[in-house]
Amino acid sequence: MIGTDIQKAAEFLQSDALVAIPTETVYGLAGNAYSSRAVASIFDVKKRPSFDPLIIHTNHFSRLEEFVVNIPEKAYLLAQQLMPGPLTLLLPKKKKVPDIVTAGSPRVAIRIPNHPMALQLLSKLDFPLAAPSANPFGYISPTTAQHVNDQLGNQIPYILDGGPCNIGLESTIIGFEEEAPIIYRKGGTPVEQIESIIGPVHVRAHSSSNPQAPGMLKSHYAPSAGLELGNINELIKQHNGQKIGLIRFKDYHDTIPASQQVVLSTAGSLHEAAQRLFAGMRLLDQMKLDIILAELVPEEGLGRAINDRLRRAAAK
Ligand code: TXA
Ligand code: MG
Repeated sequence: MIGTDIQKAAEFLQSDALVAIPTETVYGLAGNAYSSRAVASIFDVKKRPSFDPLIIHTNHFSRLEEFVVNIPEKAYLLAQQLMPGPLTLLLPKKKKVPDIVTAGSPRVAIRIPNHPMALQLLSKLDFPLAAPSANPFGYISPTTAQHVNDQLGNQIPYILDGGPCNIGLESTIIGFEEEAPIIYRKGGTPVEQIESIIGPVHVRAHSSSNPQAPGMLKSHYAPSAGLELGNINELIKQHNGQKIGLIRFKDYHDTIPASQQVVLSTAGSLHEAAQRLFAGMRLLDQMKLDIILAELVPEEGLGRAINDRLRRAAAK
């Protein structure tokens, strides 16, 4: 059921049931992080492999120390300035954080979502919420309550509807190796913004099989129709005769029906492009196309995360 009743959502969560929650990045599939029953059903509903850990969501900066130890100075600076917001900190966990949440890793991922309904919900609960994106494992993340309902609606009792997500891409994940900051996933907080606060950071490339950092799996966000990236005119020639879908940044292409094209932002705004990317991929995926062709956006600000998702959607 889709609704806007925060109290009802809280009651489901208190009884170990799962609730899909709105955040500013994407919708999350939330359960009590301290309940092994709730956490186990998150993995179950998502069909997520148990080696892939979950992010813990809380509502206040002061609560970070409940979950983690040895917070580096740079992590404090980031938390102070960017939380709540589309940033996840990966830090050494306290014992009380269950191993099932971190998939056995000594580090836990924590974030404070910047969405009024999520924050209100969290303030009603005396436990944090473990929440991955509310999509089946490997598919595109949901940016509306309806997206969640389409795929998981009959498996969870409640979807809290907070409207379309303002950012539209998952959080940026940052951790520290010997105090050196490392970005493990590009996301809703641009790298440039992080560097303006703590100086240079290393952005780690993802791989197809790196058990150390499962969040970096290369093939992800994949629509069921194939997706190819490159120069649109050349790709259209190569796929002559096929039913083609397009994802472009600013302009419609005059040889493909407009209904088969997703133009991310005619105004050329990367913020708007990020908001529309996942919904656009879902839309094209429902059209029984032979192939989706896409071009990269400018590699700056949110564009780096948009391009990352396009590359992963294209990865085999
Ligand atoms: O914006 C977001 O971060 C959304 C919203 C719902 O908060 N959540 C989200 O969760 O994207 P998920 O599970 O779909 O992606 C989190 C990624 C996973 O790929 C996971 O492998 C990685 O973060 N991750 C989580 N905990 C980790 C840990 N302890 N060590 C390494 N990677 C971790
Ligand atoms: Mg996900």
